[in-house]
Amino acid sequence: MNVSTPDNALPESENKSQDQRQRYPVICIDGPSGAGKGTVTWRLAQALGYQLLDSGALYRIVGLKAFEAGLIKPGADVECEIDGLKLLKLTQSLEIDFIPNNESGRVDILVNGEAVGEKVRNETVGGYASQVAVFPEVRTALLKLQQDMATRSGLVADGRDMGTVVFPNADVKVFLTASAKARAERRVAQLLNAGQEADFEAIFTTIKARDARDENRTTAPSKPAEDALLLDSSVLDADTVYHQVKKHCQERGVFFDY
Ligand code: C5P
Repeated sequence: MNVSTPDNALPESENKSQDQRQRYPVICIDGPSGAGKGTVTWRLAQALGYQLLDSGALYRIVGLKAFEAGLIKPGADVECEIDGLKLLKLTQSLEIDFIPNNESGRVDILVNGEAVGEKVRNETVGGYASQVAVFPEVRTALLKLQQDMATRSGLVADGRDMGTVVFPNADVKVFLTASAKARAERRVAQLLNAGQEADFEAIFTTIKARDARDENRTTAPSKPAEDALLLDSSVLDADTVYHQVKKHCQERGVFFDY
């Protein structure tokens, strides 16, 4: 598997330890879906001129491709037996490009040269992602390419295990959470705003099931690093969250121009 970003042309020694490779500042924003990680990660990356790693998108891509290859049954959270060997081969075959899009405020994703666009951004694919994310083989296949992103420029990394597994020596670690109820309410508001139907109970149930799977898996469960700042966004707006995280980054020596 290969992931490229616009400025990833620098050569890199295969033999360097993670410590040596991680020579640019790294900020980790971990926590469950819907806590506001995406917004704060994007704003930090913009303000600092750092690259952005949306690690959830990697798992979503593997989940979508596994579904398309028939390895996962249809339906967001229908548990099924997945063939680990086939899943690993599929993961290793993917070529992924992340292209920052200033207009949408997101990162466009190309898989094997083809834009996956919003196809990975829905609840169903989120469910596929959390099913493939329990496989240690998949996590290992994705590990180095995530770490390599910190060898090219400063990085703001959004995920579940950024501070615990992928960048244990990161300069800043934040675990941003919010109650399942607050996250379900936000999701309902988002869907209604987009003119789509939204069933609070169904969304609330899915969120709790997804949290349980992410928190209880054996490999790289979703949890705060010991040295992470814990922030609960249940009753905070996005601006307040951003400014609290920014202040923490500054206290940890990260310099902002504005
Ligand atoms: O963050 P996002 O909702 O896009 O992540 C989708 C799923 O991918 C998560 O529910 C989780 O199972 C998995 N994931 C992970 N490790 C990460 C990021 C995401 O296991 N670092």
